[in-house]
Amino acid sequence: MDKGNPMEDALRKIAEHCVEGGVLIFTGAGISAESGIPTFRGRGGLWEKYDPEKVATADAFRRDPSLYWRFFLDVRLPILKKVKPNPAHYAVTQLQKDGWVSAVVTQNIDGLHQAAGTEGVLELHGSTRRFLCTRCDFRCGLEEIDKILLESFPPVCERCGAVLRPDVVLFGEALPAGVLEAAFEAAQRSRIALSVGSSLVVYPAAFVPQHAQSFAIINLEPTPLDGAAVAVVRQKASVALPRLVEILKERR
Ligand code: OAD
Repeated sequence: MDKGNPMEDALRKIAEHCVEGGVLIFTGAGISAESGIPTFRGRGGLWEKYDPEKVATADAFRRDPSLYWRFFLDVRLPILKKVKPNPAHYAVTQLQKDGWVSAVVTQNIDGLHQAAGTEGVLELHGSTRRFLCTRCDFRCGLEEIDKILLESFPPVCERCGAVLRPDVVLFGEALPAGVLEAAFEAAQRSRIALSVGSSLVVYPAAFVPQHAQSFAIINLEPTPLDGAAVAVVRQKASVALPRLVEILKERR
């Protein structure tokens, strides 16, 4: 018996829910996995090797910022210096250019959507390409922090001497003011939210796709929200999203 093509069927179902300007793209670490950035959870995820309690909580950073900065230097910085967007990031940009997208909301802190040319990205968890002083208003980017790290560890502010931190949301901290609200508002205006490469277990971020009229999921592994999705595509983002771009082009 012909079982058809499950990815194709699910993508066509998603396409039926897509209206111009009504598709919210919600992304997680899985969309950047094929660029060589390890995910947090799932097979080979970062939290299997590193304890988030030690390197990713606000309390741990206050107690000993050098633990975070060691993790950043060993794991994050070498990858950030060389990563490039993959076909899934470019497909998101194409969907935006083709007029389908209401908003792109990401949990990712890698800046790859922007590098692929996507505009107006709402970064729920900040960015590891920006750094700020824990005391004054000094801010800097990746190149500068690289230089500062050669002179001080953990890196300190060249103006006031206080320790620097990444512009990311650590566990135990609130999401950036206004960004979560903007994401919820965009979701409420959207006909469908497409969650790509997220385990959908971290809240409040995971509420965002659930605020759209409907949501669909592209993810390699099951998520707790699969049962409520209009369609689930169990495929790599770099395969599924470019195909969705094609299917939506056919509909024009
Ligand atoms: P996770 O690491 O929790 O989940 C990534 C998901 O992507 C997994 O379920 C994988 O199965 C899936 N995946 C892996 N490769 C894929 C591919 N090529 N195509 C499609 N799916 C793939 O990442 P997030 O859901 O983003 O928080 O995690 C949410 C938050 O938890 C992160 O933003 C981070 C983390 O702690 C902060 O930094 C505050």
